[in-house]
Amino acid sequence: MFVILCKGYAELSQQSAGIVAAAIRKRPDLRLGLATGTTPLGMYRELARMHREEGLDFSRVVTFNLDEYLGLAADHPQSAHAFMQNEFFKHVNVAPGNIHIPDGTPSGDLDEYCAMYEAIIQRAGGIDVQILGIGRNGHIGFNEPSSSLASRTRIKTLTRQTLEDNRRLFQESQAIPEAAVTMGIGTILDARKILLLASATSKAAALARSIEGPVTAHVTASALQLHRDVTILADEQAAAELSEREYYSDPA
Ligand code: F6R
Repeated sequence: MFVILCKGYAELSQQSAGIVAAAIRKRPDLRLGLATGTTPLGMYRELARMHREEGLDFSRVVTFNLDEYLGLAADHPQSAHAFMQNEFFKHVNVAPGNIHIPDGTPSGDLDEYCAMYEAIIQRAGGIDVQILGIGRNGHIGFNEPSSSLASRTRIKTLTRQTLEDNRRLFQESQAIPEAAVTMGIGTILDARKILLLASATSKAAALARSIEGPVTAHVTASALQLHRDVTILADEQAAAELSEREYYSDPA
């Protein structure tokens, strides 16, 4: 794993956007896996700026989001659909037909729907670059502790901690979804390149366990140790509990 220690959130956002932009310039029809949440917001803003000011072209990029809350329709303000539209898609030129986000209210059989999402990714040729955030419990996507490291897209019940973390995003009167449709760890590990972004002190323990701890279904981001091309970008707060910080920042 390649660990990049960033001075702060702005640097983390710029560096991650730079990596994505370089991948798009190299391959204009990049298959790009995306995450919602607070962490990638700065990266999305920087990519939007590059589109506006530098002509970064997303017209052939194909996107696949990691997850959606079960029970939230696409037009629900707290859905991943609404988040992606407001924070990213409406600021760049991804073709609407190239955007894929799991449906939080699929009609019919849920297992069949999840298998279909997997099949769409396969048919597109697989994901070239997958963006990830990390939860306080070390989850990637909504692969909560105990998720099989071979899991594929499926419904996953959210932990109490994740529900608490999500509370800030919902109004008090709103019910918080207790489950999500999420790509599995196996789905994520199939991506050719993975970029994990970690910011803030609240992520420090989970990040250290993921990078320096044993591979365990209890901290699902630790499964990234099994992937051959993972870059982790962490700001100083998120990197605070890494014991090998000096080694990671060694320019050699
Ligand atoms: C969201 C996702 C989650 C988040 C994680 C961190 O699509 O897959 O794993 O990346 O919960 O969320 P933030 O960035 O809000 O701290």
